[in-house]
Parts: sequence; structure tokens; C-alpha cells
Amino acid sequence: MIAPVYSANEGRYDSMLYRRCGRSGIQIPVVALGLWHNFGSHSTMENVKAMAHYAFDNGICHFDLANNYGPEYGTAEENFGRLMDSSFRPYRDELLISTKAGWDMWPGPYGNFGSRKYLMASLDQSLRRMKLDYVDVFYSHRYDPNTPIEETMQALVDIVKQGKALYVGLSRYPADKAREAFDYLAARDVPCLLYQDRYNIIDRTPQSTGLIDLCKEKGTGFISFSPLQQGLLSNRYLNGIPADSRMAKAKFLKPEMLTPEMMKALTGLNSLAAERGQTLAEMALSWLIHDQRVVSVIIGASSVAQIADNLKAVENTAFTEDEIRKIEELSAPIQMHHL
Ligand SMILES: NC(=O)c1ccc[n+]([C@@H]2O[C@H](COP(=O)([O-])OP(=O)(O)OC[C@H]3O[C@@H](n4cnc5c(N)ncnc54)[C@H](OP(=O)(O)O)[C@@H]3O)[C@@H](O)[C@H]2O)c1
Repeated sequence: MIAPVYSANEGRYDSMLYRRCGRSGIQIPVVALGLWHNFGSHSTMENVKAMAHYAFDNGICHFDLANNYGPEYGTAEENFGRLMDSSFRPYRDELLISTKAGWDMWPGPYGNFGSRKYLMASLDQSLRRMKLDYVDVFYSHRYDPNTPIEETMQALVDIVKQGKALYVGLSRYPADKAREAFDYLAARDVPCLLYQDRYNIIDRTPQSTGLIDLCKEKGTGFISFSPLQQGLLSNRYLNGIPADSRMAKAKFLKPEMLTPEMMKALTGLNSLAAERGQTLAEMALSWLIHDQRVVSVIIGASSVAQIADNLKAVENTAFTEDEIRKIEELSAPIQMHHL
């Protein structure tokens, strides 16, 4: 049987909110979709397609990848390449696609960290896997203390000059190094479009490091990843650990996180969300979108229903002072500030 050709929803831009990325010409949807989990070789192509189509049909035109997403390395990009062939090729110019290199990808000294050799080779591999001529944004995925920052940044500049990426981004740099990197890039007319960091009601690190404010000062868009703290900030774990959840299946979210203190805070936040007519996941995303310094939140998902829920966050991003105060009080015992 021939699969029906994908045709995007005509009203796809009607309900999404778009924000300008720092001092740039680019606007991005306040909700973006990340392909770290649930889009690789452990997932069915049927579900991958259903989630990607649903996202794009509802205004999510920014897809965030990395060389090693899957969780089996490379497989999220491979599946994205399949999506390009089956569905998205006619819409390429409507899509903002990002990928990254910086964490481990292949064995030996050239498959990790921030050398020019790794970044250049990795992007070439990513383009082949995703069946793309260029990505919209290429990130240095983390700061490498053993590579001169000039080498990593010049690789990003040259990648743009080669036409393999239109813009560059950084993720997980210490604030002083991010400042140096932003200045290096700007001086070479390749300003950093996006800075990606974990930021949510629980993890407040970018507030403590000053990175959110640094991004504002430098005209770089601050984009939050793991806005639900990998699913903790949702109803997923309020009554145990579901067998199909990330906590049960993957190594990055540990059951030890579900302390009595955490459960108490999540239950309180869940009740507050209900008073606002939202799910906890919606409220957690609305809280981030409410902060005008945050350009966008990159959500993960394992089902279309979760994406549908998360999109509702855009409908109610107003908070009363009382609600903000209550969120502070309830989350205070579980807040993290990594420095
Ligand atoms: N730059 C970096 O270093 C870096 C690091 C991490 C992530 N990222 C980016 O950020 C993206 C998002 O990260 P993340 O997946 O950790 O984000 P997240 O949104 O915090 O967590 C996503 C998980 O939360 C659960 N979930 C989502 N919506 C839900 C809902 N409405 N109700 C109940 N549960 C819900 C799902 O868990 P289940 O799977 O259990 O259903 C889903 O897989 C990644 O894909 C990647 O693009 C970047």
C-alpha cells in the first residue's frame, strides 16, 4: 500500500506564539520539539511520525536534535532524515532545524568535546543522517576546558561560512566562557543565535549563573531545555513510576529523585495548576513562557497526547503575583542551583 502523502494543516501558524531570538531576524515558536528521547531506534516510526506531524501541524516549526540523540547515537537524526523524505521536504524552508556536537559520539580522541576536527566531521555526518544540505542552527553542545575556545568558535564561524549552518548556538558553557564565546563570534559577524540551558521551576541554575541576563545583554536568545525536568514537573510520577516512563526506561532520570520532599512539592504544584485550570506540565511551561527573557522551551514527548497537553500552555501564560509567590514557596525545598 502506498502511504498517503503528508499535507500540513493549513491553520498551523494560527495558535502558536512566536518570539524573536535575541537581536536577530529569527522568530521561533515558544514551544519547540526536542528529539533526545522517543524519536530514535527504540521507538516506532509510526509514533515518531505522528508526533512530528502533530507538532508541525500546530505551529512547532523548530525541531532540536543532536548527533547522539536516540538514545542510540545517531538514530534520532536518521529517523528525522526519514521524516524529511516522507513528509517534510516540501516544507524545508518553514523549518528551523538544529543539531549539535560536543558530547561523546564515536570512539577515539576525535569523537567528543570541542575540537575543530570533531565539530566539522560530526556536522557532516549529521547532514547525511538527516538528509539535509544545511542545518539552521549548529551548536557547540558543551564547553570543552581542554580545547582553546578560539578553536571551537572558529570552527562554528567556518561552518557558517561553508554554508553548512545558517546560525550557531552554544549549550552548557560557564558564564565567563559564554561571554568570551559570544564576543568572539560577534566580532566575526556570526553572532550566537541561541544559548541552550536547563531551566525550569526546579532547576534555577541559569538564574544563579546569570546566563539568562547575559544572553539578554548580548542579544542571544535563551532557550530552555528539559522544561519539565524530564517529566518530573507533570502528573507522570504523582502515583508511582509508570512502566513506560523515562524514569523506568532511561538512565538520565533516577527514581531516587522522588523523595518525600519532592512528592510534597509536586503535589502542591499540581493542586495550584488545577486551580489555574491547567495540568502541572502546562503550568510548568506557562511559567517559563511567562518569563519574557525565555525565547522558547524545548519539550520532549513520548506521545501525541503529551504534545497536545503541552501546547495548551501557550493559552494561559498570565500569572497573578499570588500564584508566582505560591510557586516560589512550593518549589523552594526542591529548587536546584548548580554553579
Ligand atoms: N543542550 C543539552 O545539553 C540538552 C540536554 C537535554 C535536553 N535537551 C533538549 O531538550 C529537549 C527536551 O528535553 P526533555 O525531553 O528532558 O524535556 P522535558 O519536556 O523536560 O521532558 C520530556 C518528558 O516529560 C514527559 N512529558 C512530556 N509532556 C508531558 C505531559 N504533558 N504530561 C506528562 N508527562 C509529560 C515525557 O516523559 P515520558 O517519556 O516518561 O512519557 C517526556 O519524554 C531534548 O529533546 C533536547 O532537544 C538539550
